[in-house]
Amino acid sequence: MGDPEGTSSWLKSLNISDIFGWKDHGVYGALAAIVISILVPALFAALFFGKKKGKIRGVPVEVGGEAGYAVRNARKTELVEVPWQGVPTMAHLFEQSCNKYSHNQFLGTRKVIQKEFVTSSDGRKFEKLHLGDYEWESFGEVFARVSNFASGLLKLGHNVDSRVAIFSDTRAEWLIALQGCFRQNVTVVTIYASLGEDALIHSLNETEVSTLICDSKQLKKLDVIRSSLTSIENIIYFEDDNKEEDAFSGISSNWTISSFREVEKLGKESPFESSLPSKNAIAVIMYTSGSTGLPKGVMITHGNMIATTAAVMTVIPNLGSKDVYLAYLPLAHVFEMAAESVMLAAGVAIGYGSPLTMTDTSNKIKKGTKGDVTVLKPTLLTVVPAIIDRIRDGVVKTVDKKGGLVKNIFHFAYNRRLAAVKGSWLGAWGLEKLVWDTIVFKQIRTVLGGQLRFMLCGGAPLSGDSQRFINICMGAPVGQGYGLTETFAGAAFSEWDDLSVGRVGPPLPCCYMKLVSWEEGGYLTSDKPMPRGEIVVGGFSVTAGYFKNQEKTKEVFKVDEKGMRWFYTGDIGQFHPDGCLEIIDRKKDIVKLQHGEYISLGKVEAALSACDYVDNIMVYADPFHNYCVALVVGSYQSLEKWAQQVGIDYQDFPDLCSKPETVTEVLQSISKVAKSAKLEKTEIPAKIKLLPYPWTPESGLVTAALKIKREQLKTKFKDDLLKLYA
Ligand SMILES: *[C@@H]1O[C@H](CO)[C@@H](O)[C@H](O)[C@H]1NC(C)=O
Ligand SMILES: *[C@@H]1O[C@H](CO)[C@@H](O)[C@H](O)[C@H]1NC(C)=O
Ligand SMILES: *[C@@H]1O[C@H](CO)[C@@H](O)[C@H](O)[C@H]1NC(C)=O
Repeated sequence: MGDPEGTSSWLKSLNISDIFGWKDHGVYGALAAIVISILVPALFAALFFGKKKGKIRGVPVEVGGEAGYAVRNARKTELVEVPWQGVPTMAHLFEQSCNKYSHNQFLGTRKVIQKEFVTSSDGRKFEKLHLGDYEWESFGEVFARVSNFASGLLKLGHNVDSRVAIFSDTRAEWLIALQGCFRQNVTVVTIYASLGEDALIHSLNETEVSTLICDSKQLKKLDVIRSSLTSIENIIYFEDDNKEEDAFSGISSNWTISSFREVEKLGKESPFESSLPSKNAIAVIMYTSGSTGLPKGVMITHGNMIATTAAVMTVIPNLGSKDVYLAYLPLAHVFEMAAESVMLAAGVAIGYGSPLTMTDTSNKIKKGTKGDVTVLKPTLLTVVPAIIDRIRDGVVKTVDKKGGLVKNIFHFAYNRRLAAVKGSWLGAWGLEKLVWDTIVFKQIRTVLGGQLRFMLCGGAPLSGDSQRFINICMGAPVGQGYGLTETFAGAAFSEWDDLSVGRVGPPLPCCYMKLVSWEEGGYLTSDKPMPRGEIVVGGFSVTAGYFKNQEKTKEVFKVDEKGMRWFYTGDIGQFHPDGCLEIIDRKKDIVKLQHGEYISLGKVEAALSACDYVDNIMVYADPFHNYCVALVVGSYQSLEKWAQQVGIDYQDFPDLCSKPETVTEVLQSISKVAKSAKLEKTEIPAKIKLLPYPWTPESGLVTAALKIKREQLKTKFKDDLLKLYA
């Protein structure tokens, strides 16, 4: 689903070391488990769960538009458009949900009890928070605040024909502001907090935003670019617990500056009639970073949001008001906005947190106090793969550090479970699972609060290893989503009882998915054993296109003879016989070499990452040559080890990376890995540039989800790439 920008700086700080005060449940338990696991056949499970392995999840369907191989969700013959009758827009949905669940807990926020700064040994200052319990507002109370805010906005003088932008970290007021705007049919512009100044100016100016809602943290940014923000008349800021509002008094301009509370109060004193939108009104213009140039604003209608919401509600088992959801990913990202829409529709309590306060050991959590998950104990959580990978690393490291019995039991249990899960669907359940869960995995589950029952994963493909890790250690099914801002996150979603890895499930019931042959790239719907081609999404979740960008809209959005909108994703996929989609490539990442061979950069990079010496890699192919080259970030540990073994003298790591013998060693190792992965000769980099410094989100060379950014890397290492082809 595009890159979860804005998740960047904190990803690194999600610190999960020393999670367990691991109590040894002792050898007896372990022995019992081993005995039971060997003696008790999976017969029990077989009695309860039939054979589910061959379940069909998506089926071919006749559709209009360009010829291709189209699939729909197997459970629904007709596309799903609304969660129930009479809710054509998010504003209607919100109002009805608030009526229905009026007295239930809805939005929860933790109070800041104390803030302090600690200084680390190298003199840097860190903020540490002591946070209290969640304080809850009911659906009914939130509805009142939303209505007040909507009225206050008008009272403030906001012209309903102009747009409001929200530029802030995720919090309860974010959602309240959004719904407030919806009640007056005002379009909201969203911008990732991590986008740069130019992108911010561009987005606000292009959409002629007249009211900007932000948190105090963003204010400094605004002050600097004030002279470029010509359309803005009102600023509404979210108050913090401490008195950072003072920051606003320093700003002298023609802006009216009000706090969020003031606007709510204004509205309460002088209420306005609501003016609910219609289905096709633009609810949100969401700016997403393009790989090149300025960000594009995707126009999302109320109908799009409703459709994805309705569809996702059908795939999360037993979703309802018993559930608790932890909200911490950026709301300016489509994945989080879709998830919170689903929660509000289903009457789920939403507790707000942040990546920096998520677990007991998170960076901003004061020692001895509790992280968000520990206090909230969520049953549902959204994650991006980078977070799962970090949790997994943390758990494995902690276990290894404990050593001895703990380590042995953990790995034994993990491998038993892994073999069982891989072996069959049956193996995933049964008595042995219960035993291991009790002895080993229960401890680990407390890292995420201990109550998790479902995880939604999006943003980037999740590796098979990480998915297995979650299945086994967290005991929660992972629903892997595939969608883009252009389809309001709604495209494909894997089902909870599908334990296979590397796939993103069948189409959501709000849309069809179609593969269209891409002759040039060599992906055809007639391919065996599976049809392959560019992924095209059609249906109710497909958005209205790019704001003020007809040309680009025409290029990737098409309307067929029946009036259905289709979005051309640029991703290459294949459909498995059970109707589940697998993403296999990206159109942009395929280059045609001088002699006509195609080389898929992503595929080659994925294969070569398996090489121990490689910390990160970008393969580059110049169409005017006959071979490819690569930028390789050397793995510090592996290369130092090698250098010691062969006895190379060097000053520091950059020096080691610059030595011809090191480059030769890495190149040879890469070639070996390439051959065992059965890459073609043209796919094996002929030359490499070995780099000593890692690529981080802060440097702008990789995304927040740690995917490489080709254009940025190409620009930064232009000279090196030229030399490789010299
Ligand atoms: C803002 O948009 C107008 C056109 O609507 C354009 O003329 C102007 O240059 C833009 N300003 C900035 C700072 O981008
Ligand atoms: C405020 O508005 C006046 C005219 O309406 C203009 O002359 C002045 O430059 C503006 N000041 C700022 C700080 O934008
Ligand atoms: C809501 O706003 C849109 C513009 O985004 C407009 O076309 C539509 O008529 C409005 N709907 C209502 C019910 O006022």
